[in-house]
Amino acid sequence: MTAYFNGLVLREAGARPAVAELRLPEVGPGQVRIKVRAAGVCHSDLSMVNGTIRPSYPLVLGHEAAGEVVEVGERVKRASVGDRVVLNWQPACRSCWFCEGGEPWLCSTSSGVASLENGVTLDGVPVHVGLGLGAFAEQVVAPENAVVRVPSELDFERAALLGCGVLTGFGAVRNTAQVAAGESVVVIGLGGVGLSVVAAARASGAAQVIAVDVSEAKKGLAESAGATDFVVSSDTLSKDIRGRTSGRGADHAFECVGRAATIRAAWRATRRGGKVTVVGMGSNDDQVTLSALDIFSSNRTLRSSVYGQADQDVAIPALADDVLSGKLTLDHLISDRITLADVPAAFDRMSRGEGARSVVLI
Ligand code: APR
Ligand code: ZN
Repeated sequence: MTAYFNGLVLREAGARPAVAELRLPEVGPGQVRIKVRAAGVCHSDLSMVNGTIRPSYPLVLGHEAAGEVVEVGERVKRASVGDRVVLNWQPACRSCWFCEGGEPWLCSTSSGVASLENGVTLDGVPVHVGLGLGAFAEQVVAPENAVVRVPSELDFERAALLGCGVLTGFGAVRNTAQVAAGESVVVIGLGGVGLSVVAAARASGAAQVIAVDVSEAKKGLAESAGATDFVVSSDTLSKDIRGRTSGRGADHAFECVGRAATIRAAWRATRRGGKVTVVGMGSNDDQVTLSALDIFSSNRTLRSSVYGQADQDVAIPALADDVLSGKLTLDHLISDRITLADVPAAFDRMSRGEGARSVVLI
């Protein structure tokens, strides 16, 4: 059955996204149709609007979402009508070299940060869907491996956050950096992703979590997430951090902004032999400069964390259980509940460094 639905469309880089009526494709074999109920506004969406990354246009934005399965195609095994699901923007094929080697977050068949045409049209013209999903929309048609079932007791708002920011933050701490009890951690950039890193670091037993942002207004949020220290970012950041870490620098630094300058700041904030984890998604044009001697003599590790370096089919239900048991609190992450038409204003707030997550209720 062909259906029409509303979605938030970006016509070209730099344009203001607007709600438009889209035509949804029929559900094909191995596909499911999801009625989206909640979707978080993530900085990666903003990066597609402001040109930090350049997908194809026109584009339906949105990728951090949860909803209900309303139709399943032929041969679909892992979802049924009525299931509550979180959307996964890096669905794993389970048969490529990366999946078989235990790295499904790097699945080579996934669209990654690029966007796909999946049969959605706008005025008869094919439209791309951001991160393969296009979840700022009333409905989404996706392959069945892009949905992860969660218990129906989990509310859609918090379920949505598990689909990108929370998973990315927790996975960076647990899977990539493997923060251990007693360690010191610096987190640069306190949006939905960075605040999740702060919470995960405390949950891993970090003794000191130094939260850093350019915006002084993030202090309260940092404390709610469990930060022990808050520092306003400045040119003297590495000195400030050393002053709080016995002159050495921290065991770990997490970059949650997506800029070369903050990757360098994270590098300089760690001790010799420390670990720098790049969580932010930056631009292809933004080059990080480090001296060859510094790289050699500091013995640091620099590694990115893609989508929490996790098997989403395992990690998302595990996080859902932690939310339901009260082990994981996400309430402080939701600063605004908005409609699809309000998303451009949420991007404006995000650009100004205000709030944590805006969640679209659909
Ligand atoms: N130093 C410190 N903090 C900064 C700096 C800086 N130079 N520049 C920006 N920030 C802060 C902002 O004030 C804001 O609080 O970084 C935070 C970024 O938060 P959001 O815009 O809400 O971004 P978020 O959705 O958390 O994503 C962060 O992770 O997945 C990636 O693409 C995403 O690169 C983005 C990053
Ligand atoms: Zn995201």
